[in-house]
This record gives sequence, C-alpha cells and structure tokens, in this order.
Amino acid sequence: MRLDVFTLFPDAFAWFAQQVHVARAAELGVDLRLWDYRSFTPLRHGQVDDAPYGGGAGMVLRIDVVCAALEAAFRCDPARVADTRRVVELTPRGRQFDDALARELAAGDLCVLCGRYEGIDERVSQLVTDRVSIGPYVLAGGEIAAQVLLDAVVRKIDGAVSNPDSVAGDSFSPGLGGSLEYPQYTRPAEFRGWAVPAVLLSGDHAAVERWRRERLDGRERSGQG
Ligand SMILES: C[S@@+](CC[C@H](N)C(=O)[O-])C[C@H]1O[C@@H](n2cnc3c(N)ncnc32)[C@H](O)[C@@H]1O
Repeated sequence: MRLDVFTLFPDAFAWFAQQVHVARAAELGVDLRLWDYRSFTPLRHGQVDDAPYGGGAGMVLRIDVVCAALEAAFRCDPARVADTRRVVELTPRGRQFDDALARELAAGDLCVLCGRYEGIDERVSQLVTDRVSIGPYVLAGGEIAAQVLLDAVVRKIDGAVSNPDSVAGDSFSPGLGGSLEYPQYTRPAEFRGWAVPAVLLSGDHAAVERWRRERLDGRERSGQG
C-alpha cells in the first residue's frame, strides 16, 4: 500500500512517521512518501502560490504546481492519478472525516494533498476523488489535518496496531455498533478518594461486561454496580 502526501512542509511528518503503529505499518509494506510541492514547481525561485483572481486577502496554491508534483510522483497525467487510488484534498469545505471514511481510505493506495495559504486553486477538484475536512474550523495548513486523517487510516490497516482487539473495540467502530467505548480505569484502585467502580474489581466477568455494555455511547448511569 502506498500513502503519498503532498505538502510544503514534509518535515512536519517526522514525528508522525515514528509513531509505533505507523512504523509497524511501514514494516508491513505500507510505503509513506512525502512530496514537497516546492521541489517540483515549474516556476522560478521556488514559487508555488499566487494572488487570487478577483482580488482579496492572501495567496492561493497554484494548480500547475500541484499538477507538476503529482506528475513527478506518479509519472502519469495528474488527472489520471485518481484512476488508481483515492486522492484526498484536505479542505474545510470537504466532507467531514469520520471512522467510516477512515476505513474506506485504508482499503487501498491513498494520496493526500495538503493546502496552505487560502487553500489550493479550486481546479484541484479535477484531480481528486474526495475533499475532506477534519472539522468545522480553519487550520493554517493541511499538515496537521493530514496527520489526523492518516493516523486514523493507519490504525485500520491489519497488523498496524499490535492488538487487533483494541481497534475492533474502538469508539465508532462497527464492533461497537458505532458507539463510544466504555470508560477505562487502571491502578490505583483509589486515589484522592476517587474510587474505581467496584464492579471492575469484583472479578465477575459477566457483571463487568454488563457494566461496560450499559456505558457504551457515553451513557452514564447512577451507581457503580
Ligand atoms: C488557512 S486554510 C484555508 C482556509 C480557506 N481559506 C477557508 O476559509 O476555507 C489552508 C489549508 O489548511 C488546510 N485546512 C485548514 N482547515 C482544515 C480543516 N478543517 N480540515 C482539513 N484541512 C484544513 C487545508 O488544506 C487548507 O487548504
């Protein structure tokens, strides 16, 4: 599987690439490639952006620059890249990212386009299969959004997380019917007078299961039994 990320700041992904599940995915053959738009710009002096037509604040990432980077990475017509993989533009205007989309995107090769400035020239819509937002707010650039998306996608890749049960039982997963996971506790059993629910210490597996089931979806009940 290939994960190709296009960005003006490839160094921003150094920490992400070192995360345990990402490193494990790499060992399993997931090939994370970072591409710097600036390295492929056909313009002089490393230019990648330009003023918006019609005027207005800020600069816009140029479509010819994005195309040149895609062409260099995939050695084909940039408009054909989407024939073989999902191509995601990160933008606040996109479909809101969720667990179901993470699962879909983990099913094959994936290419992610990070914007900066006022975003990418709207004609990027000719190149992409998906426009994705990580939430209704505006970040300075797509790099953090890409890491949010890729972190969730990589967790869905078989073997990336060492204990598959922890992914199968994650909040929003089909295993939980889309619910939120139950609350978790660990030692000490009491701290500053804050006690762990007695049922979790009881050794009664059926009661623990029942307690957890009752708390799926964040529902809180009175009492601890
Ligand atoms: C400053 S933002 C552009 C915001 C744009 N002018 C607007 O108002 O919708 C620059 C880049 O950050 C990324 N970005 C910002 N917020 C995002 C979000 N909520 N979801 C995904 N990407 C986001 C996108 O790649 C975007 O092109």
